[in-house]
Amino acid sequence: MPATPNGFPHTPIPEKGITKDAILATLAERKANDKDWRGGRVFSLVYSAGDEHHELLVDALGLYAAENGLNVLAFPSIGLLSHDLVRSTASLLGADDPRSGGQIDGFLTSGGTESLLQAVKTGRDVARHERGIARPTVICATSGHAALTKAADYFDVDLVRVPVDGGYLADPAAMEAAVDESTILLVGSAPSYPQGVVDPIEDLAAVALRHDLLFHVDACMGGFMLPFLARAGRFERLFDFRVEGVTSMSADLHKYGYATKGVSAVLYRTPELARHQVFATTDWLGGFYASTAMAGTRPAGPIAAAWASLMHLGLEGFTDLAVRTHDAALALRRGIEAIDGLAVRGDPSMTVLAFGAVDPERLDIFEVANVLATNGWYLDRQNGPDSLHATVQAGNAGSVDELVADLALAVQSVGSRRAADRSTSYATGD
Ligand SMILES: Cc1ncc(COP(=O)(O)O)c(C=O)c1O
Repeated sequence: MPATPNGFPHTPIPEKGITKDAILATLAERKANDKDWRGGRVFSLVYSAGDEHHELLVDALGLYAAENGLNVLAFPSIGLLSHDLVRSTASLLGADDPRSGGQIDGFLTSGGTESLLQAVKTGRDVARHERGIARPTVICATSGHAALTKAADYFDVDLVRVPVDGGYLADPAAMEAAVDESTILLVGSAPSYPQGVVDPIEDLAAVALRHDLLFHVDACMGGFMLPFLARAGRFERLFDFRVEGVTSMSADLHKYGYATKGVSAVLYRTPELARHQVFATTDWLGGFYASTAMAGTRPAGPIAAAWASLMHLGLEGFTDLAVRTHDAALALRRGIEAIDGLAVRGDPSMTVLAFGAVDPERLDIFEVANVLATNGWYLDRQNGPDSLHATVQAGNAGSVDELVADLALAVQSVGSRRAADRSTSYATGD
């Protein structure tokens, strides 16, 4: 195998192509070291509504593997599928309620990150073109997703991150205190990724209205979970376009919409706001060119798969999955809280939570994660304070009891190892 500058192995393009069977066998072999999400032990990155649903997604993807989502004149069915997805997402987020104003419009993007990028870019454009603010400021809480920092970096805006309160929630008063004449956009989360808490959206919207700001609700995580928990009577707060002052929202189909990767929706309260996302030019030799997302050529397969997911599960199926997943998250929370030395961070609002040591001096939670990893469990790690993060999705529901049992054992073994280390160091006088 030839050496490469970064030291990674490289399989060069063979002189003569190899067979389909050999290729698929090699890919399967390559996957051997990847996390095995099918067993329900991966609490991050993958959302699974079961094998039958997965097969449907793969079939739908395959049907559109070659088509190009850039051009809906050539492939009108992609335009219709996209329209269905945008309208259905809007409906879930209050668009059919008179309080929304009845004008919600939006687009599909490649994921939550791009949806946030688009929302910030729209804010920047409104600031520059309608309000004469040359270098606008966006305000979010320290819990706001990292993609907001990326957006500020990409689009030359300043991002002010305001510390969360003791419950990891955005603090409306502190965020209001950060508003100045350059501010264009506030961002709240429903829920935040790090601790899974839904920010006080109505209070943040009131701040936005008082200062004539745009207000984006990042429901990338919650957009396809909170509406179904609400339907099941498990979530009551308003967090969507029914709240006056919310001007845009993002919701990821490729998370709790149980679609394949590559589909999110970004929605705007008015067509005037949405228009900022449309790019069109004739300023080159190739004729009229227009797009509504960052990419030009874009995959159509994930759009078809997302559509298949919504149609197959239906509102009832989504509600059942939401309830089952919420029950699993509550069981996980109770299990964690029953383990001596562990605490859940804040009061998680749905199915995403973080937990860590009550006293980090006595228990290294990342050591606990290392022990869990030896049994195939995968949880993300985060700081501020050191914690493990679990996104509980339908595919994890059957594994929570086992995780809690293994977690208790891992905490015990890390704790006793640490005690043994301490007694050794006392004995040797270190
Ligand atoms: C609240 C929130 N916003 C945005 C994102 C970014 O989404 P993506 O990873 O699809 O780009 C995430 C991802 O977990 C998220 O949880």
